[in-house]
Amino acid sequence: MQKDLGNYRKSYEKSSLTEGLVPENPMELFQKWFYEVEASDGVDEPNAMTVATIGLDGFPKNRVVLLKKYTYEGFIFYTNYESEKGRAIDQNPHVCISFFWPNMERQIIIKGKAEKIAENLSDGYFESRPYGSKLGAIVSKQSEVVPGREYLEGKLRDLEKEYENKEIERPRYWGGYIVKPVSLEFWQGRPNRLHDRIRYSLRPNYDWKMERLAP
Ligand SMILES: Cc1cc2nc3c(=O)[nH]c(=O)nc-3n(C[C@H](O)[C@H](O)[C@H](O)COP(=O)(O)O)c2cc1C
Repeated sequence: MQKDLGNYRKSYEKSSLTEGLVPENPMELFQKWFYEVEASDGVDEPNAMTVATIGLDGFPKNRVVLLKKYTYEGFIFYTNYESEKGRAIDQNPHVCISFFWPNMERQIIIKGKAEKIAENLSDGYFESRPYGSKLGAIVSKQSEVVPGREYLEGKLRDLEKEYENKEIERPRYWGGYIVKPVSLEFWQGRPNRLHDRIRYSLRPNYDWKMERLAP
């Protein structure tokens, strides 16, 4: 089987990035881009991002998760701490997250260190989730091999009975990570493949160095 995709070509013309016109703090540029993507209404889940970890098998692995909060400090997502990504982060907290917003012709690649957030913050977020999502966190030992779909559906039915009219507490193995960035690279598509790439790197004195990269 084969399919040649050599003719897939697009000229990127929507916007530009200029050193003098971007903020000194990359989190402010992130916020600006995020607002613009939200306002464009052209991306279903603008907060969907890939998180790459270095696994225990030595391979990098990407998967999509949902960004649930960002602050000057970093990017927060929620997951199962005992999942493949959780175990990878335990061993090596260096991760890479990325966003691709095709309608805006933009990509952001962020390297950083993942840390578990405080328990009370994970409790607060878990509490805000709908009942079904709370049960979902308990029913599934994320990343483990299961015998089949019926096994999971059976487990869900059992848990629905067990937790009828009962509070569902956050399981200890589920919670948030914050990715504290050390570098953020903003990519804006431009015509003739002369794309704009601006990278911010965190310096030891905690200010940001800004550099333009060749596309
Ligand atoms: C749009 C989308 C959103 C997702 N959001 C999350 C999330 O917020 N947290 C999460 O643990 N998994 C999320 N997943 C599932 C992950 O991609 C992945 O399958 C899961 O976390 C297990 O990954 P792991 O085995 O590499 O740890 C999402 C998947 C998609 C496609």
